[in-house]
Amino acid sequence: MGIIPLPNKIANISGINNTKEFVLSDHEFIKDFSSIISTLIPNLKIGNNENISIQKDETIKDEGYQIEILKDKINIKASSSKGTFYAIQSLRQLIEFHPNGIPCLRIEDAPRFPYRGMHLDVGRHFFSVADIKTYIDLLSTYKFNTFHWHLTEDQGWRIEIKKYTKLQEIAAFRKETIIGHNNTNPQQFDGKKYGGYYTQEEIKEIVKYAQQRQITIIPEIEMPGHAQAALSAYPELGCTKGPFEAATQWGVFEDVFCPNEVTFKFLEDVLTEVMELFPSEYIHIGGDECPKTKWKESAFCQKIIKDNNLKDEHGLQSYFIGRIEKFLNSKGRQIIGWDEILEGGLAPNATVMSWRGVEGGIAAAKLKHNVIMTPTDYCYFDYYQSQHSSEPLAIGGDLPLQKVYNYEPIPETLIENEKKYILGAQGNIWTEYMKDFKQVQYMALPRMQAMSELNWTNKELKNYDSFISRLQNHFSWWKKLGYNFADKSTDLHYFVKSGEGNGVKLELKTNGSKFPIHYAINSALDKNSKQYSKEIEINETCKIIAATFGNSTAKGRIDTINFNMHKGAGKKITLKNLPATKYSAYGPGSTLNGIIGSNSKFGTEWLGFEGKDFEAIIDLSKVTEVDNITLRFFNSPTQWIYPPKNVAVLFSQDGNNYNELPAFIIQPSTNTIIEYPLPTANTKTRFIKIIANNYGIIPDGKEGAGNGAWLFVDEVVIE
Ligand code: ACM
Repeated sequence: MGIIPLPNKIANISGINNTKEFVLSDHEFIKDFSSIISTLIPNLKIGNNENISIQKDETIKDEGYQIEILKDKINIKASSSKGTFYAIQSLRQLIEFHPNGIPCLRIEDAPRFPYRGMHLDVGRHFFSVADIKTYIDLLSTYKFNTFHWHLTEDQGWRIEIKKYTKLQEIAAFRKETIIGHNNTNPQQFDGKKYGGYYTQEEIKEIVKYAQQRQITIIPEIEMPGHAQAALSAYPELGCTKGPFEAATQWGVFEDVFCPNEVTFKFLEDVLTEVMELFPSEYIHIGGDECPKTKWKESAFCQKIIKDNNLKDEHGLQSYFIGRIEKFLNSKGRQIIGWDEILEGGLAPNATVMSWRGVEGGIAAAKLKHNVIMTPTDYCYFDYYQSQHSSEPLAIGGDLPLQKVYNYEPIPETLIENEKKYILGAQGNIWTEYMKDFKQVQYMALPRMQAMSELNWTNKELKNYDSFISRLQNHFSWWKKLGYNFADKSTDLHYFVKSGEGNGVKLELKTNGSKFPIHYAINSALDKNSKQYSKEIEINETCKIIAATFGNSTAKGRIDTINFNMHKGAGKKITLKNLPATKYSAYGPGSTLNGIIGSNSKFGTEWLGFEGKDFEAIIDLSKVTEVDNITLRFFNSPTQWIYPPKNVAVLFSQDGNNYNELPAFIIQPSTNTIIEYPLPTANTKTRFIKIIANNYGIIPDGKEGAGNGAWLFVDEVVIE
């Protein structure tokens, strides 16, 4: 049938409905969207002599619906406009995917979670009103009910505020933008003024557009951090009084709102205008990534901390958010904040958006606060979606479609009566590396559909193969609609096994397609190349070229995997601390699999240790002459990644007594890759112990300040 998200109950009945012109009975439930119905289904109108009926059925859940497709009649039942709208969306997909008649069937459907969200950052890059409407179209097609609109950032303020005209004149623009990745060294800028904002008239139009499509827009006005653009217009809102300018690169910036009365007046005025535009119960107030440097240095802030008996600057952030919450609550609204709002004490009625992981969400649920799950490693669609080297530049990470699809929003550690606080999950689209809306579509589609299904469809019914198969209909539909989507199902997803002491083995899989994979070793790939059937043993330095094939030509992109089989490749490695689950590549053996990781992406091949040391023992299986060891570390402070403070390498022939090379300090560097060749001068050894000490706590003023640094380790090349 092709419907995404998969309905929770479908029963086939015999027959086909061949209706050419659909006529829907008028009903109170369609009054929100009666004027747009023909934009949803072109051969549908509202009138008498209907062949689609709508009936109110109070026994159906608020967003649920039933639809019965008979040969010459369609019956919809629901208890609300929302349910009716979702019935129409399911019908719309059935009509689209069955141009020669819809198979008769009965659907009984209702969402698993009450909050089904997608976010879009318009601060880093600005998208037109038409683009935002297209985004809302997509959300409504896939039964999302919330659009989280991230409207203010360091790099640009995007909402017209009548009382503060300099937000439009100054804060909406930055003087230029960084070229390429934030990590690039030296950084280069394009020299072009960039910006824009939505007028209040445009916002009203978009809010109405969303309402007609049963979408609530939750606006986000960031505070106290990510406020540099606002400060550029009103420097009196910063602790140092400026001057400030809208940021021209990405990251986290130290100049944040100062918790003084001028700031509170400004924010209350801004929020008053925001509330007039957005009827949503929830207003998102940000709360994430607020460096405390300027508050620490400010005598004014220190006095507020003292006068209000606050513990420290986290207490001050909590005081800040608490005051804003009180103001919004007094107007009948509720706040949502990123999980940092837990630090220093959670505002009494706040909903927490758990992004740095699921821990914030778990803590909030245990405190009986509502939670929206959006952990980076499953829900950040600005991460790469394929390992392929030709993917367009993205922020980092590795989030293939299947990983999104398999995400389960309710953490196992919650007990039964805590689970109800998890309202649902949300996909986030941060747009540092999405210059235009085509790129937003490319990053969103089809991971957005995986998010749609995990929020809507009951866990037991989810099935990735079925999802991929249904997705093919949507790909064809999107082609007609001109959407720029990412079909990675025919790309390879490969696994390189090593580290057990029994060699290196390459496993080739696809991202969901059933096409056969062919591969060539050190030669050109064509249809006569060997078909993959089992793991390939890699015994010498070589190049493997592989792709999925259909009709004698490569279907997916061709991957080239280079193996450099040094003395440690395929040998046994034992780690004292395990890498973080989300950055464990193919396991500890990823450091001994013969593959040098990417110089720009740490999402695959690299092992990531959160706040921990890399401490490894490599067993070469027999005493071996070692002349050189090369270590590689990733260095990207904006992504919380630091090289180790120092490294020690020790040798042993028996695994008990070790000789130590002098430990060496890693010098500060702005290079993204810190490569450390260690001449070891004919050392005869069987065991090599490597201890790379984590950088430690991230210093104030840097992204992630106060958290343990990430240490990323690549191949240990032993020659
Ligand atoms: C976030 O990604 N800073 C919420």
